[in-house]
Amino acid sequence: MADNDSSTTQWEVEQLHEQLEQGEPFFVFDVRNEDEYESWKIEGRKKIPMVNVPYYEMLEVDEHDDIVDSFVDFLEKRWTEKLPREEPILAVCAKGDTSEFVAEALRRLDFRAFNLEGGTAAWGDHYHTRPIVESAELGVYQVSRPARGCLSYMVTSNGKAALIDPLRHTEVYASLAAEKGVDIELVLDTHGHADHISGGPSLAEKFNAPYYLHPYDGIHPIDVMPARIDYRYLKDNQEFEVGDAHLTTLHIPGHTLGNVAYLLDDRYLFTGDSIFIESIARPDLGGRGDAWAPLHYASLRRLLELPDDTVVLPAHFSGLGEVGADGLCRSTLGELRAANQGLVMAQKSEEEFVDYILSSLPKFPEEYVEIKRVNAGLVEVGEAKASELELGKNICALSQAYEEEE
Ligand SMILES: [Fe+2]
Repeated sequence: MADNDSSTTQWEVEQLHEQLEQGEPFFVFDVRNEDEYESWKIEGRKKIPMVNVPYYEMLEVDEHDDIVDSFVDFLEKRWTEKLPREEPILAVCAKGDTSEFVAEALRRLDFRAFNLEGGTAAWGDHYHTRPIVESAELGVYQVSRPARGCLSYMVTSNGKAALIDPLRHTEVYASLAAEKGVDIELVLDTHGHADHISGGPSLAEKFNAPYYLHPYDGIHPIDVMPARIDYRYLKDNQEFEVGDAHLTTLHIPGHTLGNVAYLLDDRYLFTGDSIFIESIARPDLGGRGDAWAPLHYASLRRLLELPDDTVVLPAHFSGLGEVGADGLCRSTLGELRAANQGLVMAQKSEEEFVDYILSSLPKFPEEYVEIKRVNAGLVEVGEAKASELELGKNICALSQAYEEEE
């Protein structure tokens, strides 16, 4: 549980993550502008009660020199009756600076208020790693970026490591490998990502390791331009050794034409963007949903042939509801056959599946075309632009999983 000691005035993003995972009640007072708020909010297992009051509105009737006095005045007139007294209130802004004054103003009005240190920017870039299995012979670590619902993996065996779908904050993986005393020898992407910038090429360069991608994803699907990154071609059924562990590549076109899954030691299936926990991947991010949906159907049926005890490890989750009590996002193929609506439909006819999938597509995020360009090395971006492109939660899954739980 987060530390709610009255002497503490800040929540670090780690505390926010813990609070969200444990479903502890708190209230969010978000002072970002309306556009920022509408595009991306803090989400938990349950709906988090929150209000959006852009900070500039609180300064409209500003008769004070001190910003906190102005906020106190505004809050006293408009909000003191409406805000909870029992639960902690978390003041949030983009970087955690303005919200610090808001939290201070709320405390002066006797609320239990805290500031989110670093704001939504820090929350968006927060990572958390948990082991799925951990021994010298075999380690599988799930590296989560919870605000975006992005998951990546490190597989280790006898001092060697492979990374699967690493994200762009490469220091996270470098530190994890150092902590576990392993050498990164292989970097794999399951596909050319559209929702986030891959850390694959830069990690491969940093660790002098090969980076693999299926060649179909080495072509930007909208621009139809070849990638300008250094990568090796993946093939269906290609095998990799990591220490004593064994990875097999399964080419499963559908979400992208070069989409693959990796099967580790016939037991752990890194599904990338194909099977998630509550949903399946969308087939339209290359602009060819009609043509790719039947491929997706055939690929899902191929994965469904694997044994029931195969552990499904996806590249995304849509909400913390897909994360278990142990903080891990995983399931087995046996459980998902009946529980995952997309997989239920994949067990019906191709026609029914295609109808279902094409009627379940969420909006097409325009920035995804540009992210694919960055991942193909067709466009270079700095940190500010990279952050802007990645703002908000991934939308790689079908829409069902996005209905908010009340
Ligand atoms: Fe994707």
